Amino acid sequence: MSTLKTSVLGIDFENPFLLSSAPPTAKIESIDKAFTLGWGGAVLKTITPDGLEMIEASQRYATWKNAGRVCGFENIELLSHLTIKQWLDGIKYLKQKHPTKVQIASIMAPVVKEEWQNLVKTFNDSEVDAFELNFSCPHGMPEKGIGMAIGTNAEISSTITEWVMEVAKKPVFVKLSPNVTNIAQIAKAVEAAGADGIAAINTVQSLMGVDLDTFEPMPKVNGKSTFGGYSGMSVKPIGLRCVAQIRQNSDLPILGMGGISNWRDAAEYMSVGADVVQVCTEVMINGYAVIGAMKQGLLNYLENKGFNSPADIKNKAIANLSAHKDLNKSKQVYPHIDDALCIKCGKCATICDESEHSALSLVDGRIQVNRDACVGCSLCSHVCPKAAITMK
Ligand SMILES: Cc1cc2nc3c(=O)[nH]c(=O)nc-3n(C[C@H](O)[C@H](O)[C@H](O)COP(=O)(O)O)c2cc1C
Repeated sequence: MSTLKTSVLGIDFENPFLLSSAPPTAKIESIDKAFTLGWGGAVLKTITPDGLEMIEASQRYATWKNAGRVCGFENIELLSHLTIKQWLDGIKYLKQKHPTKVQIASIMAPVVKEEWQNLVKTFNDSEVDAFELNFSCPHGMPEKGIGMAIGTNAEISSTITEWVMEVAKKPVFVKLSPNVTNIAQIAKAVEAAGADGIAAINTVQSLMGVDLDTFEPMPKVNGKSTFGGYSGMSVKPIGLRCVAQIRQNSDLPILGMGGISNWRDAAEYMSVGADVVQVCTEVMINGYAVIGAMKQGLLNYLENKGFNSPADIKNKAIANLSAHKDLNKSKQVYPHIDDALCIKCGKCATICDESEHSALSLVDGRIQVNRDACVGCSLCSHVCPKAAITMK
């Protein structure tokens, strides 16, 4: 019998699915509801010292849609609006009601030693299980020299990590930004400064679009806009890459996230190094109840594959990532067309024509492959609307 239970740095997780620090963890009642529905833990919406100015804009979101489905948001939301006292009371209440659920305090403070250390000391004696240092919010905060302004600078990241490690009595994860040239370099810097683990990724800095009548970028805030943070299923390839790059360079535990919308995404994150995963945008769009299918899907997968627990998948794909020069280029695959499925729409031939090779054509009512022209790139198989093309 497989289990979803796992343990990271001595913290027991009843399942590896956590809510990430974001609107779904901004209110105690919401976290309460999420725990009741089965989430393994929650990273609280980022807590700052009381009094740090937090004035929100309206609108705060712009979306990227495909065929009416939201594939990602850009948001320009800031941090928690609860006071420290409200959080301390809420954390205590949640621990009493849900003793097996993991609570992680996400924190952020101005780049002043006392501010960071005071915040950590305040939560040291609370019921939180760990800290997550938010070095990665890409909007609003960098203008104040915090958020992503910290996480894009290895030196400042390492200095603050050292300050925190001097006083923290619970494990400390540092949440990194994908908006850097080399995320592994920042991970190594905070590891050297004593961090216990890494969380990645925060949102991807973005500009969702421009209204071509008024030339207002989106989201529109009384005529203007600002760069925001992109999240949701369309950022998964970026998050997966970042987590894999961190894992290639560090053995620290990783809380992986970015675009996870189902159990498969979660398992993929684990296979490139995540110990447990976090989810935000999928929950905002489809509700806390998505946890049911995520847990069942992952458990079925573990059982079908003969894995005991999520820990068995961890890092499984890392050895199969190599430099381009080390890929085996001696063999080529070719498209095989299933005539029974093919609707002769010609999309495969068009993309092959316009992408250099012209290896596919409709002859006598069938798609034919010219093997001399085909380079085995696989583009045709990706655009086929009927999945009629397999690369063999
Ligand atoms: C509206 C919104 C607010 C967020 N606020 C925070 C925050 O306060 N602190 C933080 O560390 N991350 C914050 N995030 C980032 C998420 O925790 C997460 O890292 C990111 O959205 C990627 O995960 P996802 O694709 O599952 O949403 C926020 C994301 C969204 C969409």
